[in-house]
Amino acid sequence: MNIVAISGSLRSASWNTLLLKAAAKAAKAEGAELNLLDIGELPLYNSDLDGEVKPAAVSRLLAALAQADGLFIATPEYNYSIPGVLKNALDWASRPAYQSLLVGKPCGLISASMSPLGGARAQVHLREVLAATLTPVYLAPDYLLPLAQNAFDGAGALSDAKALERLQRYVKGYLAWAKKCS
Ligand SMILES: Cc1cc2nc3c(=O)[nH]c(=O)nc-3n(C[C@H](O)[C@H](O)[C@H](O)COP(=O)(O)O)c2cc1C
Repeated sequence: MNIVAISGSLRSASWNTLLLKAAAKAAKAEGAELNLLDIGELPLYNSDLDGEVKPAAVSRLLAALAQADGLFIATPEYNYSIPGVLKNALDWASRPAYQSLLVGKPCGLISASMSPLGGARAQVHLREVLAATLTPVYLAPDYLLPLAQNAFDGAGALSDAKALERLQRYVKGYLAWAKKCS
């Protein structure tokens, strides 16, 4: 399976991007590819730009989604919601409404935060956004990484054994579910 993976953080040392890399490793062990897609080059959504010819970064996003069996998002929580850059990427991918490449695309959803809540409120908001795009989200178990600053080693690997084991279980379950969806 080929899954498009998006980090909701553009930060070079992002915990969420590191978490996605750990998820990609777990997916590889299950025979699937989680391919990270950079959303940092996308312009702010403007329907004037959303014509037949689209900005190059938008075309790259749409091409990746068109050939993907699923979508996998790791997001931080910004002010109790999702970062604007992530919402922007989903807005670009969401047109035409109810007929976009997001419709029916099985989505995995994880979050990392430095707070003890692990980004729970961002996940709730993101599920609402994905309801608007008719994108089914893997329901259980949830995956949240609280206190992310303590979970990685100096090389950026997820070194918290319990968090890693939970992530592997999440990825395995997500892939099995996504396979059934397609
Ligand atoms: C603008 C902004 C708002 C934030 N709001 C929240 C928040 O509401 N809840 C939370 O848990 N963390 C919040 N944080 C902290 C982030 O969760 C933390 O910086 C996290 O490491 C960001 O993810 P990243 O490491 O993937 O970039 C906020 C950070 C920023 C920059």
